[in-house]
Amino acid sequence: MHHTGIEKVVYGVEDIKSAVKFWRDFGLESIEEDGSHAVFAAQNGATIEVFPCDDPDLPPPPSVDAQSTVREVTFGVRTSDDLASLKDKLSAADALTKEADGTLHASDPLGFGFAFRLAQCEPIKPDSIETNVPGNIKRLNQRGQKFDRATPLIMSHIVYVTDDLETHKNFYIDTLGFKLTDSYPGRGYFMRCADANNHHNLFLLDPGKGKRSFHHLAFELGSIHELFGGGNNMTRNGWETMIGPGRHPVSSCYFWYFKNPCGGAAEYDFDSDVVDDNWQPRQWESTPENFAEWCLGEGMGEALLHKQIQNG
Ligand SMILES: [Fe+2]
Repeated sequence: MHHTGIEKVVYGVEDIKSAVKFWRDFGLESIEEDGSHAVFAAQNGATIEVFPCDDPDLPPPPSVDAQSTVREVTFGVRTSDDLASLKDKLSAADALTKEADGTLHASDPLGFGFAFRLAQCEPIKPDSIETNVPGNIKRLNQRGQKFDRATPLIMSHIVYVTDDLETHKNFYIDTLGFKLTDSYPGRGYFMRCADANNHHNLFLLDPGKGKRSFHHLAFELGSIHELFGGGNNMTRNGWETMIGPGRHPVSSCYFWYFKNPCGGAAEYDFDSDVVDDNWQPRQWESTPENFAEWCLGEGMGEALLHKQIQNG
C-alpha cells in the first residue's frame, strides 16, 4: 500500500464565522468562502473544509457529544491500483462509497469517517532558515527573520480519542496498511501512512474514559521562530492556548496547541522526527513527562501536564 499522508480534513461546525476567522489567523490560505462553506489550504495544497454541522451530506460524527468536530479525513494514495486494493479490503466497511475519480469514502470500526484519493498535494521546498552556532556561522551580518504569523507547510497528523484501542489500531494497521512508529502500550499508538515519512499521520489515544472523539489536527512549520510568531499571532487574535509552547519527547517536536471552534485543537509543530522503514519503534511509558519534557500554557510544570492528560 502506498498511502502518502493527510490531504484533506472536513469539519462540521456550529459557527462558520468563527471557524473562518480561526483558520485565517492560523495561517492557512483562503481558497473559497461563501458564508456557509469555506476551504483553506496549507502550503502543500492540503485543505481544510468547513460546513454547517447540520449539513445532511456530511458523514456522521463518531459521537453525538460534540456538535463541532471532524467528520472525515482524506489520505492520499499514489496509484489507482492502491485505490482498487483498498476498495477490496473495505468491501465490508460501513457505507463504502466510490466517486467517479476513484475516491473511496467509508468509516472505521469506531465510526470515524475517512477517505482515500489519488494524492494531489504537492512536494514543498521551503526556504531554509539559516542559524548561527558558534563555530558554524550561517548568517553573517544578517539579522534573523521575525515572524508575525505562521504559514503552515503541511497537515502532518490527526489524533482521535478511542474507547477500543486494539480494534481501532488493528484496523488501520492490518486492514489499511498503516505502519506503527511508536507506542504507549495499551494506551496509545503512533502510526504513519506506508509511504509517508512523518513520525505519525494518526495517533490513537485511550485515556480510559470510555469516550471516542476527535482530539486535534497538527501542522508542520518551517522554524522555531515561526512557531513562536504564529503562536503569538493566535494569542493576539484572542485564541486560547490548549497547551504550549512545549516539546514532545515522542516525535521530538516543539509544539503549541490552540483550542479550535471547529472542535478539538489545532497544533503547530516544528522539527518533528522524519522516519522510514529503518526506524526502530519504541514502547514509551505513558507518563506526563513522556507527553512533554517541558511546556507552558495555562500554567507550568507537572501539575499542568497531569491536568491536561486527565482531560484527554
Ligand atoms: Fe499532535
